[in-house]
Amino acid sequence: MDKFVINGGSRLKGGVRINGSKNAALPIMAAALMAEGAVAIQDVPDLADIKHLSDLLGELGMDATRSDGRLDLKVRDESNSHARYDLVRKMRASICVLGPLLARRGKARVAMPGGCAIGSRPVDLHIRGLKALGAHIELDSGDIVATAKRLKGAEIFLGGPFGSTVLGTANVMMAACLAEGKTVIESAACEPELTDLAEFLNEMGAKITGAGTPRVAIEGVKKLAGRPHRLIPDRIEAGTFIMAGAITNGEITIANVRLDHLMAVADKLREVGVMVEPAGQGVVVSCARRLEPTDVTTQPYPGFPTDLQAQLMAILCLADGNSIVTDKIFPDRFMHVAELLRMGATIHKEGATAIITGIRRLIGAPVMASDLRASAALVLAGLVAKGTTTVARVYHIDRGYDRIEQRLAALGADIKRVNDSDAAKAASE
Ligand code: EPU
Repeated sequence: MDKFVINGGSRLKGGVRINGSKNAALPIMAAALMAEGAVAIQDVPDLADIKHLSDLLGELGMDATRSDGRLDLKVRDESNSHARYDLVRKMRASICVLGPLLARRGKARVAMPGGCAIGSRPVDLHIRGLKALGAHIELDSGDIVATAKRLKGAEIFLGGPFGSTVLGTANVMMAACLAEGKTVIESAACEPELTDLAEFLNEMGAKITGAGTPRVAIEGVKKLAGRPHRLIPDRIEAGTFIMAGAITNGEITIANVRLDHLMAVADKLREVGVMVEPAGQGVVVSCARRLEPTDVTTQPYPGFPTDLQAQLMAILCLADGNSIVTDKIFPDRFMHVAELLRMGATIHKEGATAIITGIRRLIGAPVMASDLRASAALVLAGLVAKGTTTVARVYHIDRGYDRIEQRLAALGADIKRVNDSDAAKAASE
């Protein structure tokens, strides 16, 4: 298993480019199940999660070929509509094949994803939305079994106890494209990844209006034709690099960033003292002083994203005072707290809130990645900590960041990937 060894203290300088969005790519790849003809997706990041979904799509009869940043997808055989637990459990976002399979093939059997390190993560809203479109759905041996001759448009309220659902909206929006008549989703998620998905579906011939707002209308069509599509830049990867610049008191230029997708993040970072300025198709980030503390609550888009909560917390560990961080989307998404404590942070957790008392210095330590964004936070902490930090189980970070250690090293960070067996060999020499 790989780990990162980081010697903290280098100020980041230079330039880095942000890849296409992972969370836009996943539902767009699933939507290709509904296409007649070939789909070509551009700027697809080279990530474990993309590989997992490609494997699953392969089992569902789709050819997937990758060359550089381009992913070519084409359905060759529609006979298997079973997304097996073995594949789904590797990545719960696999649930986004449910809507497309059901709409196109009239049936889908998709293993119910379990919980994960960030919480229990139910899929009741996905099911409620598809049932409203006329699907018959039952649970059999841990699989969601959905059938429908042809789905029928409906008015659907898709809000849940924690607000809107991103992949739930994606599933219902995709399925409604091939339904008969008009669907209206109320309380739809507004994340830019859904707007990108809707644009792709419209390019294929769908009739979606209002994507990016809480009320999305879809006029069903009979078929969708494969088309090329370029992904939006990954706003979470961009936010993570912005915070890497900030925490190291660095000065970096980040290309391929949609600052309009990062308004809440830029606003919060400017409030605490980070300079985030637009520069062409990207941003320049600099930070030359100790940061101010702040309060932040994660919210659905356009609020502060839960996917940057852990990284912001790493920064606030070093702020000049007390900060309060609340996660309203995933109240249990605080696995990074215990690891940051190992690095000397002062954090008190109370329910879905963490109170962080800023200190002057974090201290390098062996820590363990628990999920994708928590791992990113530990890497950020390692970049400034005194001494050496080793982050174990970096397969979590490989799910969502393409070669992050090489890109940070190119900015001047002292970080390298080592394999546990290499490390043991070096120690015995
Ligand atoms: N929820 C329900 N019922 C449902 C679905 C969701 O109660 O049927 C709840 C969830 O438990 C949570 C809230 O609604 O409290 C929002 O969850 P959502 O469904 O929006 O999450 P998701 O669609 O499964 C996507 C991203 C996550 C990101 C969340 C929130 C993808 C592939 N995943 O997940 O990304 O944290 O939206 O923005 O798009 C990541 O990239 O690290 C990641 C976890």
